[in-house]
Amino acid sequence: MKTIGVLTSGGDAPGMNAAIRAVVRIALDKGLKVMGIQRGYSGLINGEIFEMNRHSVSDIIHRGGTILRTARCEEFKTQEGRKRAANVLKVFGIDGLVVIGGDGSFTGARLLSELGVATVGIPGTIDNDLAYTEYTLGFDTALNTVLDAINKLRDTSSSHERVSVVEVMGRGCGDLALYAGLAGGAESVIVPEIGYDVDELCKTILEGKLRGKMHNLIVLAEGVGGAEELAKKIEEVTGISARATILGHIQRGGSPSAFDRVLAAKLGSKAVEVLLDGKKARVVGLRDGKVIDEDINEALSRTANFDENLYDIARALSY
Ligand code: ADP
Ligand code: F6P
Repeated sequence: MKTIGVLTSGGDAPGMNAAIRAVVRIALDKGLKVMGIQRGYSGLINGEIFEMNRHSVSDIIHRGGTILRTARCEEFKTQEGRKRAANVLKVFGIDGLVVIGGDGSFTGARLLSELGVATVGIPGTIDNDLAYTEYTLGFDTALNTVLDAINKLRDTSSSHERVSVVEVMGRGCGDLALYAGLAGGAESVIVPEIGYDVDELCKTILEGKLRGKMHNLIVLAEGVGGAEELAKKIEEVTGISARATILGHIQRGGSPSAFDRVLAAKLGSKAVEVLLDGKKARVVGLRDGKVIDEDINEALSRTANFDENLYDIARALSY
């Protein structure tokens, strides 16, 4: 292993820059040459590749987004596209590839590794939807962004004695909603892993009002969907004023938290180590608080591990 490449792919996440920095500087420290690949798999296919030095990653540790840019690339989903990508890597003399992204990007990396390319994935997504790792990069920062919004919504909804429905991202995963609901003291958390009953929810809201609750905060995961619709239904059934807030892409931006920056350093360092050890198709992650690496096929075949115990705690704390 003499030269490695690094790219970011799929939805950006705070902490991706810190991970790029870690990969580049650790690799250089180990005597490797590092090539930055722009715009994910799309830039790889098109040869948008440049050599990186220690200075290339100066002043980015605190920045959200990704200096390498990111993209979603349909061509890479075809065998023809991946063959072109593997050939570009060969032409540029890149022996190992670090892919920073989510499950889609990892599926791409897995298929690329089948063409003989040594790949290692660093989990970068606010969704926390990769079952093999306790945390993905960006989740903690997004969680704090959501929490900040919830705190603000609490001020206005308690002043008006209203119901506030906050819709958060996460694709099919309810982690962001669950953790934000727990940390923000929400009355209800609605996640796709559990589902909900609208009549039951309205009953809980009315019971809360009778007990003297000033407001009612509901955190809704986008995988369940429809904050506006839910707020309307609640208003109709309970007669209590309700408002919907869809936080949207605000959750994807911002300076990464200390947790995400430290995680980026640990995972970036491990990814370089994995390639130097001659491993071919791996991912790195966090398990029982320790940095681990695992076969990419095994990692992707793990089924989601929603924390039902934490959900029960959130429910018991909510009334
Ligand atoms: P994320 O990595 O955040 O889950 P996406 O699901 O959008 O984001 O995937 C990012 C990119 O990874 C896609 O645009 C595509 O280039 C590649 N990818 C996703 N799924 C596959 C697949 N099944 N086969 C090959 N490449 C894929
Ligand atoms: O995967 C990250 C994520 O932000 C999801 O939470 C969300 O569903 C999706 O990406 C939004 O994608 P886009 O940026 O294409 O709107």
